[in-house]
Amino acid sequence: MALAMREVLLIISLVVLQQINKGDAQDLLIKLQKPAGLMKCRFNKIYQLGDSLSDTGNCIRESHCGAHSSCRRLPYGITFFQKATGRCSDGMLIIDFIALESGLPLLNPYERQNANFRHGANFAVAGATALSTEILAAENKIVNPMTNSSLNVQLDWMSSHFETTCSSTEKLNKSLFLVGEIGGNEFNYGLSQGKTMEELRRMVPEVVHTIIHGVRRVIDFGATRIVVPGNFPIGCHPIILTHFITNDSTAYDEYHCLKNLNNLAIFYNHQLQQAIGELKKDYPNITLVYGDYYNAYLWLLQNAANLGFDKNSVQKACCGIGGAYNFDIHKKCGSPGAQVCADPNTHISWDGVHLTQSAYKWLARWLIDDMLPKLNCHV
Ligand SMILES: *[C@@H]1O[C@H](CO)[C@@H](O)[C@H](O)[C@H]1NC(C)=O
Ligand SMILES: *[C@@H]1O[C@H](CO)[C@@H](O)[C@H](O)[C@H]1NC(C)=O
Ligand SMILES: *[C@@H]1O[C@H](CO)[C@@H](O)[C@H](O)[C@H]1NC(C)=O
Ligand SMILES: *[C@@H]1O[C@H](CO)[C@@H](O)[C@H](O)[C@H]1NC(C)=O
Repeated sequence: MALAMREVLLIISLVVLQQINKGDAQDLLIKLQKPAGLMKCRFNKIYQLGDSLSDTGNCIRESHCGAHSSCRRLPYGITFFQKATGRCSDGMLIIDFIALESGLPLLNPYERQNANFRHGANFAVAGATALSTEILAAENKIVNPMTNSSLNVQLDWMSSHFETTCSSTEKLNKSLFLVGEIGGNEFNYGLSQGKTMEELRRMVPEVVHTIIHGVRRVIDFGATRIVVPGNFPIGCHPIILTHFITNDSTAYDEYHCLKNLNNLAIFYNHQLQQAIGELKKDYPNITLVYGDYYNAYLWLLQNAANLGFDKNSVQKACCGIGGAYNFDIHKKCGSPGAQVCADPNTHISWDGVHLTQSAYKWLARWLIDDMLPKLNCHV
């Protein structure tokens, strides 16, 4: 009952148009503020694989991950839910907006006992990598300190989920599958564990290969519509900006993001897109769509002021303890003394690593608008 009420309020709030200032992007803005049209896809289920960008409560239900995750308690969840749910944000994530825009309830985390999975399930785990922790440790000498629930583990869960829930006659051709974002943590852990940019670049083909293998498994389960998101321009994130802070102004681009880190994301996204293109040749009847997180984020940066963000805070975490980007790796959001900004809606970054609900809302709108024509949802 309480949940139904919340969802009604949420849908109302989604429909309420915000005031817009004049701007070049006004036409696109107006277009994005209309209902996004995902309804016409008539998805009856959504399945999500991934990491903290999509986790709606799995990590906090794993003993090790939960004990090490700050997302398990307030101020995470402060804007929406008014309590921590395990989402690494002040409120909802991209997947939540995709579910709502599809007319479906929010996805339950797979690791929640006895949850309702009638409209799909969320297998994403904060901290997860695409590569298994064993391979990451053995081949790349990178430790995953959070979780062993890598992409293949999540796919094993998905496999047993379908074995127990799907009758052989039930088809998954009205389901939407999101394979990722996943694979970004390989680079996050690598950077924090002292890997060079060159070493990280050398990992890209293996990460991409692992994701594509995951997409093949999803197709084998019966998926017909699959979104494979790429990575954000990570050089714009406070955690990265803080770690690589430099007086060399040529290191930054026009948005004050670090060029070489963004170039790593571009390199990775490019290889992922190429691999998706190759996969399409093998499966001409499967709808495979690249989720362009990178350009969605750039659009957000370009239009930050028009979208209600404080243009002086687009590189600053809302929740933090000070510093040039309001980020300190030793005193992150959730640590004693860390403060939440007056209005999280004015910030893109929530905690220096993850984004605010407001940022995710606009990213979801942009992504849906970009992907809808490619999803083959005929009326
Ligand atoms: C991952 O699995 C290994 C082997 O089972 C175990 O020793 C380790 O503690 C696990 N790590 C995490 C983060 O759960
Ligand atoms: C899904 O598959 C069933 C059985 O093969 C078919 O009848 C139906 O038209 C398909 N639906 C879509 C949306 O492709
Ligand atoms: C940048 O320059 C200032 C003044 O010379 C210096 O104090 C500071 O340590 C420098 N920062 C970095 C990251 O090199
Ligand atoms: C793709 O769909 C067409 C028409 O529905 C069908 O004839 C063809 O066999 C399918 N191809 C594959 C590879 O499934």
